[in-house]
Amino acid sequence: MSYNLLANKKGIIFGALDPASIAWKIALKAKAEGADFTLTNTAVALRFGQLDDLAEQCNAKIIPADATDIADIEKLLQESMDHLGGKLDFILHAIGMSPNVRKKKGYTDLNYNFLNKTIDISALSLHKLLQTALKMDAVNQGGSILALSYIAAQRTFPDYGDMADAKATLESIVRNFGYHYGKHNQVRVNAVSQSPTPTTAGTGVNRFDKFLTFAQELSPLGNANAESCADYCVTLFSDLTRMVTMQTLYHDGGYSAMGMTPELLDLIHDTLQSQQNKG
Ligand SMILES: NC(=O)c1ccc[n+]([C@@H]2O[C@H](COP(=O)([O-])OP(=O)(O)OC[C@H]3O[C@@H](n4cnc5c(N)ncnc54)[C@H](O)[C@@H]3O)[C@@H](O)[C@H]2O)c1
Repeated sequence: MSYNLLANKKGIIFGALDPASIAWKIALKAKAEGADFTLTNTAVALRFGQLDDLAEQCNAKIIPADATDIADIEKLLQESMDHLGGKLDFILHAIGMSPNVRKKKGYTDLNYNFLNKTIDISALSLHKLLQTALKMDAVNQGGSILALSYIAAQRTFPDYGDMADAKATLESIVRNFGYHYGKHNQVRVNAVSQSPTPTTAGTGVNRFDKFLTFAQELSPLGNANAESCADYCVTLFSDLTRMVTMQTLYHDGGYSAMGMTPELLDLIHDTLQSQQNKG
């Protein structure tokens, strides 16, 4: 069902790689809600991903950009405004990549060149985007900029490696830049902290399938999928949430507020006891 929540709104969507991407679902939902936007990703992702299909479905122009490169961001913002016919109302930052996680380098054996890349791509790119957009006055008053995060920014998830530090930095940028952008031009900046979701980035994390099962069992509503994340994100681009800014908003079926469930408690206890009995 569509509510026309984003009628007359213009935006940019970063991070759609293939139909499993959270950004892919958000683009389809934003289109259904009446938005016009450009799509962007790195040149490599454009070569190996499937963005052309999405662009056709959304009638959207693709503009390549590396989100760590200021010149690319400037070009993306300018070309998007030229193409869409004015300043922007929303931007989705759905970008994450850790060479350490990809190469299975754990948190106590980090390669620091890789760590710099992780932080640059997954966190500082948001600051670069916000700072460039502010300087270019590219976003309308009341506009909404949204990044995607994960609860490892706030709690320890050992397998998430250096992405935990990147997400903690990302959420800090959301709060700190959110202040400045709000004061300057009433622009809102938020992060949605999403359930584990089977995407290219998600499944790169060690023990991802087990993460998914554990979160599914712990959350009273179960895991939030990418499509429900898209529903939530369009409300955050809309005027209905015009006073929400500088927040990390959990979209996780209740996971972040849980401690334990009786079922998991029994399962862990019984498994450990049976192991002890065998030993
Ligand atoms: N999948 C999950 O379990 C999960 C959970 C919470 C949050 N998130 C976050 O959601 C966001 C989207 O990830 P996803 O899970 O849909 O995976 P995905 O792999 O589909 O998307 C990640 C995107 O980042 C892009 N990217 C990487 N380097 C880039 C760069 N230098 N410039 C521009 N784009 C670049 C990739 O090309 C890709 O499109 C990420 O921020 C991720 O951390 C994912």
